[in-house]
Amino acid sequence: MKVSVIGCGYLGAVHAAAMAELGHQVVAVDVDPNKIALLASGTAPFFEPGLPEILSSALASQRLRFTTDMSEVAGSSVHFIAVGTPQKAGSNAADMTYVDSAVDALIPFLNDEDFVVGKSTVPVGTSQRLEEKVTAAGSKATVVWNPEFLREGFAVQDTISPDRLVFGINPGSSFDPALSALREVYSTALATDTPLVVTDRATAELVKIAANSFLATKISFINAMSEIAEATGANVTELADAIGYDARIGRRFLNAGVGFGGGCLPKDIRAFSARAEELGLGSSVAFLSEVDEINLRQRQRVVDRVVADCGGDIVDKKVAILGLAFKPLSDDVRDSPALDVARRLHELGADVLAFDPEASGPVARVAPEIPLAQNAQQALLDADIAVLVTEWPEFVQLDPRTAGDLMAHKRIVDARNVLDPAAWRAAGFHYSSLGRP
Ligand code: UGA
Repeated sequence: MKVSVIGCGYLGAVHAAAMAELGHQVVAVDVDPNKIALLASGTAPFFEPGLPEILSSALASQRLRFTTDMSEVAGSSVHFIAVGTPQKAGSNAADMTYVDSAVDALIPFLNDEDFVVGKSTVPVGTSQRLEEKVTAAGSKATVVWNPEFLREGFAVQDTISPDRLVFGINPGSSFDPALSALREVYSTALATDTPLVVTDRATAELVKIAANSFLATKISFINAMSEIAEATGANVTELADAIGYDARIGRRFLNAGVGFGGGCLPKDIRAFSARAEELGLGSSVAFLSEVDEINLRQRQRVVDRVVADCGGDIVDKKVAILGLAFKPLSDDVRDSPALDVARRLHELGADVLAFDPEASGPVARVAPEIPLAQNAQQALLDADIAVLVTEWPEFVQLDPRTAGDLMAHKRIVDARNVLDPAAWRAAGFHYSSLGRP
């Protein structure tokens, strides 16, 4: 099929390359000429495992091209909207500017038989609103919603082999052509029995925000348990293992620690609350503000622990920060708990030195005040305390004896509960974590 992808960020760049990999003819559009130049030369503008490989093969096959010129989408019949919906400044709501301007720019090039397929995470009601915009401009193109569930770090695999597909189609207008177009786009995944939910557009929009809200709630639930565990001498990891064996609960997303961050979960729960309030239903999702508060509290808990473990005075103490990305296998530092902890310690007067295997570039741009090390060893050298805040494999596998030999004082705060306390204590460390004795 001939498809266009509008927006070349974490979602759109992967989607465009994956669509080409699946055999479609793809034109990908972004307003940022630097990003387009990088992508067109086969360079991924951010760290995402597997993306450079599919990008090069798609470019070599000539099934993928990048442009800043929207007119090049003419001739494509399916247009994916994959731009960002960040938190609006000074508000909890989603900033819809990019979605609206993408659709406005697209409208002049739409044919009446085309499909505008939303992938961005949006407030419920958006597709209806966008359809009104398209219709008002005199186009008969159909607006449908097809939310994306990819995880950063696994984005290529999640796009090519998703765990489910959701098509939100307006039953009132051209039901069958939209369904058959989407079936053709995703024919490879559908051929392997990927579950498909065909629904209305409002449900499709809600599915995405509900999924992310549920995941955020699960994490804050276990972090709340870690607060209780800590006060009572219980062990939150063993608690998570034990409740996780109940298939109704499940063990995934029950890892207590510094909490969730990134460009999705935090802003999505806030945007959902804002949208519910607009609908006069704020109380239905009032618990999400509690989820947010529990989550943000974890960051301060980690900071307080570091200060306490240093004897109550952090000024000029050398603190090795291990990890800055919001999670491993990503260089994304948007709303990163790790970066937040580094900043708070820096503001308290600690002598912070941080290392992340992939996020140095983004951190240097958004938080130039945070000094960066070249590797974990350099960060640990002469440190008074180490804080593991992003569980990159190389940190999880750190040898406590080697780390101890480098440091001035053997102290570590494991803010992701991923190290073996016995092994670190055996190496002479003062080891602490969140909710484990
Ligand atoms: C999330 C969802 O998982 C995707 O399904 C969704 O498509 C995406 O948002 C999106 O809306 O685009 P992502 O932001 O890549 O994906 O990250 P997750 O893997 O969900 O992790 C989010 C945060 O939760 C990370 O900071 C992670 O460290 C934290 N987390 C995760 C925990 O603190 N504990 C856990 O047990 C699991």
